[in-house]
Parts: sequence; C-alpha cells; structure tokens
Amino acid sequence: MTLRDPDPAPATLASPRSARYNLGVHPISVTLNGRRVDHTVEPRLLLSDFLRHDACLTGTHVGCEHGVCGACTVLVDGEAVRSCLMFAVQADGCRVETVESLAGEDGLHPLQTAFHEAHALQCGFCTPGILMTLLPFLRENPAPSEDEIREALSGNLCRCTGYANIVSAVTAAAAHVAKASRESRTTLATSG
Ligand code: FES
Ligand code: FES
Repeated sequence: MTLRDPDPAPATLASPRSARYNLGVHPISVTLNGRRVDHTVEPRLLLSDFLRHDACLTGTHVGCEHGVCGACTVLVDGEAVRSCLMFAVQADGCRVETVESLAGEDGLHPLQTAFHEAHALQCGFCTPGILMTLLPFLRENPAPSEDEIREALSGNLCRCTGYANIVSAVTAAAAHVAKASRESRTTLATSG
C-alpha cells in the first residue's frame, strides 16, 4: 500500500467521546486516616484528586502534578509518596495518611507546633507535603543533622519561607520528641 492509496478498510465511526473514555469504575477500600473508606473510582483518578475531591481532605495540596514540588506528599503504608504520581486504585487495600491525621485530641503534632513556633511557614502551601515527608524521616532518623534535614527536604519546594526556619523547626521537633520519649521511659521505670 502506498501513501496515496485510499484506506482499504472501511472507516469505522469513532465512538462518542463519552463511550471512548468510559473506562468503568473500580471499587477500592482504603484505610484513610484510621478509618476504612469504601469507594468506587475511575482507574485514571489520581490519588491526590481522590483525597481532595472525593474524600474532601483538602490539606493535601497539588502544585506541579509532575512529582516535582512535593506538595501532594502523603503516607501510603507508612512511606512518603507523591499522591499526584499514583492512581487511587493503586491505594486499594492500603493505609493512607494525610496531614489531617496529624493533630489529635491532645492538640497539634509536635512537628506542627515546632513549625508554628519557628515561623517555618508563610503561605503554607508546601507545609502539608513537608510535614508528611518529615514523619517517616524522623521515625527513621530521630536526631538528624542539619545536612540530613536539608537532604530529606530536597524534594519539597518552598517558594516563600526559606529553608532556615524549616530546618530549625525540624531540629526543635526532633529534640521535643526525644525529650518526651526520655521522660516517658523515666516514668515507666519509676512506676514499675
Ligand atoms: S503536586 Fe505532586 S509533586 Fe507537585
Ligand atoms: S510556605 Fe509558602 S511555599 Fe512554603
């Protein structure tokens, strides 16, 4: 067949747009901030959009949608992931935690308190992603150096605060958590 030959096959009419893109829905079951959520989603729905639009957890921010800025970071089974790079169906059966899970009945999480006290945010757009990035980091590295903190935050872009106060906040939060855990060990030892 040459390029000038007419197409030998009869043209089939394209399906209507709605039919072409009707990919169906899939049931998913996610433990979201400690609560089981059953839902149906289109396979192309991003986890970030599921969280913000379906679950109304708008603390997860979306900046670049390309995995660059880190604003959309959440925890999936305890690991920090970019929710703009993951489909909601991929979270089926997983434990997902967003920034809304941090504050409890006792008040703010020590990281949130430290950010507040160290003036580690201005507009706050990057903050949820930074906090969720830091949670597993501090769990694995409870007494980080400044260089380690800066490296941990290298995938989170903040356009307005500057990183000096953020690093100070992380150092303060780590010290607070270490002190609290020392005190709780002392209390356990003296009460035993
Ligand atoms: S919105 Fe996901 S990394 Fe920027
Ligand atoms: S506080 Fe504004 S982008 Fe980080």
